[in-house]
Amino acid sequence: MAKLTILNSGSVYEFEPGNVPYGGHGKPGSILDLAMHFNIGLNHDCGGNCSCTTCHVWVREGAENLSDMELDEQDFVGMAVDNRPESRLGCQTIVKGDVTIEIP
Ligand code: FES
Repeated sequence: MAKLTILNSGSVYEFEPGNVPYGGHGKPGSILDLAMHFNIGLNHDCGGNCSCTTCHVWVREGAENLSDMELDEQDFVGMAVDNRPESRLGCQTIVKGDVTIEIP
């Protein structure tokens, strides 16, 4: 089991990577997909299609357990308000192990 920790609330959600029912938004197994599964409030104005920045998160721990950033994510995350080196787009970032995020 892996853990998704949300710093804002201190909540910890356990899941089996690659085995969470797909909710239809963002990449399967992405931070957004997990957020929807666990009813975590994460905006996704474009429906998880990598064409906005509302699913922006800061990765505090576990970046090594995330999918690599692809070019389209690189393009959009750079436009996010308060973009930082640890910024990712939740809809594009697939979680493969323990990770701690903060929602700006
Ligand atoms: S929901 Fe729009 S880029 Fe992720």
